[in-house]
Parts: sequence; C-alpha cells; structure tokens
Amino acid sequence: MNADAQTPDDPESDSALAERNSRLRQRKLDRHIALVGFMGAGKSSVGQLLAEELKRPFLDSDTRLQERTGRSVQELFVEGREKAFRALEEEVIAELLDGPPSVIALGGGALMSEKTRGALKKRCFVVHLHVSWAEVKVSLADLRRGRPLLQRPAAEIHELYLERQKTYRDADVRIHVPRDNSASALKHVLYAIRRQG
Ligand code: S3P
Repeated sequence: MNADAQTPDDPESDSALAERNSRLRQRKLDRHIALVGFMGAGKSSVGQLLAEELKRPFLDSDTRLQERTGRSVQELFVEGREKAFRALEEEVIAELLDGPPSVIALGGGALMSEKTRGALKKRCFVVHLHVSWAEVKVSLADLRRGRPLLQRPAAEIHELYLERQKTYRDADVRIHVPRDNSASALKHVLYAIRRQG
C-alpha cells in the first residue's frame, strides 16, 4: 500500500502505520549509532560515554585502521598516501558495520566516500557532532597534534572545514555543544536518540 494514500480516519491504514512505526523504531534500536563530524568535534570522547550508557561496544575507525596496519594515522598519510588511507578507511568501516549494533566514531573525512555514506544511511542512526569553525580555530594548537590534515595554514583548514560540512548534511540529527563539554553532548545525543526511537 502506498503510505501517501493513508488517511488518519481509516482504521486499517492507521494500524498499518502504527505497525510500520514500530518496525522502524525496532530497526533504529538495532542499528549502529555512528558519530560523524569535523576533527576535534569530540566523536571519540562522546562515543565512549554513549557506548557505556547504551551498553554497546564502542568502535573507532581510526583506531581499527591503526590496529590493522600497525601504523599511526600520521604514518599512513606520509608521502601523499591519503588515497591508500581512504581505501583502507572505507574497508575498515564496512567491517565495523558488519558487527553487532555498536557506537562507531568515524574519522572526520570518512563521509567523503559515497560507498560509506550509502552504507551508513542503511545501517546506522547517524549523529553529526557539529563543531563551529570558531571553536576549531581557537583550538588548532591542540587539534594539530596527530592530525596530518591540520598541518597547514588556518585559511586552508577553513576551506577543508567548509568542504566537509557538505558531507555531514545527511546525518539523521545534528548536535552542537561546546567541544569541551562531552557530558552535555552525551545528554543531547541521548535525547535525540530516544526521541527517534
Ligand atoms: C581525518 C580525520 C581524522 C583521521 C585523519 C583524517 C579527516 O580523524 O581520520 O587524520 O580527513 O578529517 P578525527 O576526525 O577523529 O580526528
């Protein structure tokens, strides 16, 4: 039946709608929760708190990538090997998505991959942890540590920041809380999840 054809005063279609909503909720509970956002948004710290709260495993694509290759993100990026890093990142995320429902923190550039964006849409409730450019800029000295893409002038990082925002647009929900306040971010994320499911 076409959902658009249903009307609230048709009892049969009402119950079908209720059933569909219930299935949708169930699916949401069964799905992964993926945290996306620009470098420094707090995906890993909020993700860990969230996983504890929901009693789910916490997974981090960068960590898994490093475990798998035995090399740091910085090492993987050297000598223009970003392309190889991206291919591995795509693979690792596909593997993480095949596991049981988890909280997954994704590297800030992971959504540049169309394949990853598609997989996330099907299998995750996607939370965009938004961080403003002003916050990124003021924290750059800190954020630069261990992040090869931040070893460039602020103006170029800003361009990257703007580019990346386009990839986060399809998230199911966007949350903006100061990046040094993981506890508050956690509350907002939990609220958003519970409201959905
Ligand atoms: C990157 C983000 C990093 C890491 C790598 C590249 C990006 O992860 O994957 O340095 O392209 O935005 P975090 O967002 O966890 O810092």
